[in-house]
Amino acid sequence: MPVLAQSDEKPRLGLSFPEGFVWGAATSAYQIEGAANVDGRGPSVWDTFSRSPGKVRNGETGDTAADHYHRWQSDLDLIKQLGMRSYRFSISWSRVLPGGWGPVNAKGLDFYKRLVAGLHERGIAPMVTLYHWDTPQTLQDLGGWEHRETAYRFADYAAIVAQALGDAVPAWLTLNEPKTIVQNGYLSGSHAPGRCDPAAAYVVAHHQMLAHGLAVQAMRPYLNNGTRIGPALNLHPCYPADDSAQAVEQAHKLDGFENRLYLDPIFKSAYPEDTLAAIAGISPMADHVLDGDLKTIGEPIDLLAVQYYTPIYVTASGQTEQKHPLSKAFWQQIYPQGLYDILTRVKKDYGDIPLTITENGLPTPDEVGPDGTVNDAGRIAFFRDHFAAAHRAIADGVNLESFHVWSLMDNFEWQEGYDERWGLVYVDYATQQRIPKRSAHWYSGVIRDNQV
Ligand code: FCB
Repeated sequence: MPVLAQSDEKPRLGLSFPEGFVWGAATSAYQIEGAANVDGRGPSVWDTFSRSPGKVRNGETGDTAADHYHRWQSDLDLIKQLGMRSYRFSISWSRVLPGGWGPVNAKGLDFYKRLVAGLHERGIAPMVTLYHWDTPQTLQDLGGWEHRETAYRFADYAAIVAQALGDAVPAWLTLNEPKTIVQNGYLSGSHAPGRCDPAAAYVVAHHQMLAHGLAVQAMRPYLNNGTRIGPALNLHPCYPADDSAQAVEQAHKLDGFENRLYLDPIFKSAYPEDTLAAIAGISPMADHVLDGDLKTIGEPIDLLAVQYYTPIYVTASGQTEQKHPLSKAFWQQIYPQGLYDILTRVKKDYGDIPLTITENGLPTPDEVGPDGTVNDAGRIAFFRDHFAAAHRAIADGVNLESFHVWSLMDNFEWQEGYDERWGLVYVDYATQQRIPKRSAHWYSGVIRDNQV
């Protein structure tokens, strides 16, 4: 177990967070667990996709990943050592239900029971995502999210897990970033299931939203009043690239596809009219929105999980433009003000719902130095500035309760394989050794002082 030095890492800004503010980190099942064929786990679309030639950089897969399935105890010790009070992870649907539905795999469910108990033993609150993109392959073979039935199967799975873990999990997140499934899974094809099909993409959007609402309904009977449920949405502030009326209009239009398409049905039981009209030209989505669906999607939630990585700038002709420095991820402009803007906007447009940040971070070119440490100064600067933006949003009245950085440790970054390192903790994949990076020591000081 690596020993953590007391953090005296600078720079800090002297900004204190409200008492009770919770700091943590996030991961997801396919990205860290490995053990793809262990203890009865069924295949998911990411097993299939990562094994398809040319889909993932260097042909890498999540077969072993960070081997968290076997190393979870020492990983939880590390979370505790870093001082975190919350840990967000996801459950692999096909570990619990190898066929997507039908018989429960007790060994799979037991893994998550142990994980949740292990967190409580260490004084860390579990925050559990039910679906972080790893659709069981059996369901994909029947049409996946294009098929309405998948939404009902998801609700059944949600109920099984809620019954098993119930109130031991104070916060449940239904779907992680439904938009990414739409955009990467079904528009660009860069993620599983690798489709380039706009007609299907927005049907998939609706069925995911329906799945969210059905899952909230299905879980409630198994949870007591203090247990909270919400979705995890990646929100992108969309700005006009210049002052022209056309750029302003284009930014509003894009905002529909990036944000309102997911927020409006959940908070207002309605899809945004302008976005629906634009979708009508490319997808039969509207035909799949049946009576009562929007009411189901608008089922009251208890918290909204916000994930923020990058802003988007749009020109008068509707092209996107880069205005800020990029991280190692080609799609990520570093712009902390965007976090402030999106948090305050959610409050203004959707009300004063409790918010948690469940992802924010960047990949840096991390290497282990001759002294055995990993000096990721860029990550420290990134978090310092994003924490400061969150602090300002809180000062301006946003009900933000907690901040989970992405990610606890380096992991399988989807189509980038292991090339991008997003963790506070470095993972040497050859030995599975964990080395807390400089940012981890720094973060641990932020947590200790509740101050950035
Ligand atoms: C988010 C995903 C997460 C991780 C980060 C970098 O979109 O939810 O799994 O890949 O991006």
